[in-house]
Amino acid sequence: MNSSANLVHSLIPKNSEIVRIEFAERSYNIHIGVSLLDDADIFQHLPKASIAVIVSNTTIAPIYAKRLQTTLQGRYKTIHTIVLPDGEAYKTWQTLNLIFDDLLKYSCDRKTTLFALGGGVVGDMTGFAAASYMRGVPFVQVPTTLLAQVDSSVGGKTGINHPLGKNMVGAFYQPHLVLCDLSTLSTLPARELSAGLAEVIKYGPIADMVFFDWIEANIDALLARDPATLAHAVKRCCEIKASVVGQDEREAGLRAILNFGHTFGHAIEAGLGYGAWLHGEAVGCGMVMAAQLSQRIGLVDTAFVARLTALIQKAGIPTVAPALAVGAKANADRYLELMHVDKKAEAGEIKFILINQPGQCLVQTAADELVREVIAACS
Ligand code: NAD
Ligand code: GLY
Repeated sequence: MNSSANLVHSLIPKNSEIVRIEFAERSYNIHIGVSLLDDADIFQHLPKASIAVIVSNTTIAPIYAKRLQTTLQGRYKTIHTIVLPDGEAYKTWQTLNLIFDDLLKYSCDRKTTLFALGGGVVGDMTGFAAASYMRGVPFVQVPTTLLAQVDSSVGGKTGINHPLGKNMVGAFYQPHLVLCDLSTLSTLPARELSAGLAEVIKYGPIADMVFFDWIEANIDALLARDPATLAHAVKRCCEIKASVVGQDEREAGLRAILNFGHTFGHAIEAGLGYGAWLHGEAVGCGMVMAAQLSQRIGLVDTAFVARLTALIQKAGIPTVAPALAVGAKANADRYLELMHVDKKAEAGEIKFILINQPGQCLVQTAADELVREVIAACS
């Protein structure tokens, strides 16, 4: 274990904080704390089952699966582990099918509980497998990246990518429990930490500028993985996300604000090929582009765009939009083409999440010419 891991262990009290997400009888707790992987008590209210299946990947399973398995041993007769290939490029039907193959091979029944141990890729795929295996089995999110702890593990969006579009196939399906063990962040590569910070920063302009001020003041501590600072960030992000999703589970309206930066970001991910840029990197750059678009429409001033861009840069996230095609015009055409394959698009029109004023969003269309200007300005 490296030195930041020791820091995490020594400085944070062992007890966990709980953020509750309210969905009537499907409500659940998000536990945030240190060494939660070893805390069997947290699992005591899960539905009774004889089989548990830990779904993880080739990077995370060797580090954390055994610990989780040991903790779960008193609760389940049998515990299996499914190890998937690692990477966004594997968030596919083919990989999803590997989960179903093993669930059937192990004679998993309708009560079998799945544990998603990993980042957002493992979480999204395990959630989708849980939603569809035997028409639905219980599952638990055990997110091990900052991005997954502050965003993807909470709120029940599950799914896979399609070569033509990001996250285009999936289901809304809530976990029974989310367990954010902050100690797992000690082994996260620096680039992944930065990518997670993009989603942390996102919550400022969309919902809470006091939190944005706090992130600006604490960005160095976050990058240094200061335990108490990380704990506050994860808790505040989960509170905001729980509040938004609790009001609008299936994205009839409000929940769309969580996609700030994602319309441009998803185009970058699909256009470059999944995995070339990390999801958080694409979202970070996408937030700069969406802020620029908001400014060109007359909603925010250039000072706000500069402030957001500076923070994203300081977090270690690229802010120059990559070329998705050769030539300035062809590049904008390609962005527009990719952005049309977006779940928010309606009747062929792209809907953008814009900043109406710092801390508040607006969802609307934008003239292609303005979008082209933004792509050129950010390239
Ligand atoms: P990821 O799942 O690919 O994980 C990033 C990398 O870090 C992987 O190589 C992983 O193996 C490794 N890793 C994970 N935890 C580690 C640890 N503790 N120590 C060392 N290495 C570790 O990427 P991500 O950023 O966690 O998630 C991105 C995915 O999440 C995207 O597919 C995105 O679409 C999805 N997402 C979903 C939602 C949602 O609401 N469902 C929200 C945001 C993002
Ligand atoms: N990350 C976007 C959402 O959960 O809606």
